[in-house]
Amino acid sequence: MGVGMGLNLLLLLAMVATNILSLYHLSSSLNKPVKSSQQVPDHLIHQLNTIRATINHLTHLRSTTSDPDVTSKPPIPSDLLLYAHISPIASACHDHPELLHRYMNYTPFSLCPFDTALSESLILRGCHPLPRRRCFTPTPSKPISSSHKTNNPFPSSFPDTAVSWASYVNCKSFQCLVSKYDGFDMKVESSKFVNPKSDLDLPISQLLQIAKSSSSVIRLGLDVGAGTGTFAARMKLHNVTVLSTSMNLGAPYNEVIALRGIIPLHVPLQQRFPIFDGIVDLVRFSHAVNRWIPTTSMDFLFYDVDRVLRSGGYLWLDHFFSKRLDLEFTYSPMIKKLGYKIVKWATDSKNDSSGIKNDEVYLTALLQKPVLK
Ligand SMILES: *[C@@H]1O[C@H](CO)[C@@H](O)[C@H](O)[C@H]1NC(C)=O
Ligand SMILES: *[C@@H]1O[C@H](CO)[C@@H](O)[C@H](O)[C@H]1NC(C)=O
Repeated sequence: MGVGMGLNLLLLLAMVATNILSLYHLSSSLNKPVKSSQQVPDHLIHQLNTIRATINHLTHLRSTTSDPDVTSKPPIPSDLLLYAHISPIASACHDHPELLHRYMNYTPFSLCPFDTALSESLILRGCHPLPRRRCFTPTPSKPISSSHKTNNPFPSSFPDTAVSWASYVNCKSFQCLVSKYDGFDMKVESSKFVNPKSDLDLPISQLLQIAKSSSSVIRLGLDVGAGTGTFAARMKLHNVTVLSTSMNLGAPYNEVIALRGIIPLHVPLQQRFPIFDGIVDLVRFSHAVNRWIPTTSMDFLFYDVDRVLRSGGYLWLDHFFSKRLDLEFTYSPMIKKLGYKIVKWATDSKNDSSGIKNDEVYLTALLQKPVLK
């Protein structure tokens, strides 16, 4: 134990030393060419890695605040500086100084502002993980009581006391959510993934049967754009653990996923999955993954799925939609490039008004990652 502690201390010292070193290099190289301009020169940004770039920017900004010429610039919140010294923050954060400044402008050791929307704005702009803050996040005062059966992922209702409604503009109760947003009506949710209505549906019983017949075990999955977590809820009843990624975007999706006893991951679509390589049996894309994602990002997304899937694991595109021609000339080639076995491939016209207007089609596909790659 003593040895372990000593090693940890040594490591910590080494880390601090490297940080000080890089700071030293940065400040010495900065002093020469840049006098007190507000921008860090481009060539530096390109040369430095994320950590250095972040520290660089912050320390540079801090030094310019003492310059009388730039007093108009608000000072960097000290907690952001402190955090940047402890741990790197995503470099995209410093592309949005106004938002980041607002996010880090709070009173330490007291109640945090109700700013879920602001934090999601930053996350969606690539500033993720967000810096840590030292304040108390407002949480509902009433804990979930044992009378609320959290082990049933399809409860008939949720207690309104389980959500901090101050974070939400459009609704202040679950009754309101049910009428305004998809996914909150458990009666509707309980019929999903059970009875197929068309060839675009893949009932879970059939999915598990397909896996079983190829001697593939499904124990762990990832649901991308999971809404209120209904896929994971259904899989839970089959003793399969599914992680559900969801943003809130104005409604308590993450809270409801958690209330159902499902694991919510608060990550945007464009972020690398916070999951290690080759360990997941199944990835499902909900219809949140569709043509609105830029095609290059989509390509990266597919490869990140490939990274987390084990050999023989499945990728399920559930009601992916795009324009008919894009499916043929862009998305099909992109998907087939992965070299996965096509277990299911069903397409159909999307008949809602925007679908008709844009000549859109749905694709539901089940693909299996090859065992030898
Ligand atoms: C899930 O696990 C429980 C407890 O081990 C078991 O009783 C139940 O039959 C399992 N359900 C399924 C669908 O395998
Ligand atoms: C859209 O309408 C066409 C023509 O009625 C029909 O064949 C198709 O199945 C419909 N698509 C869906 C997804 O229901």
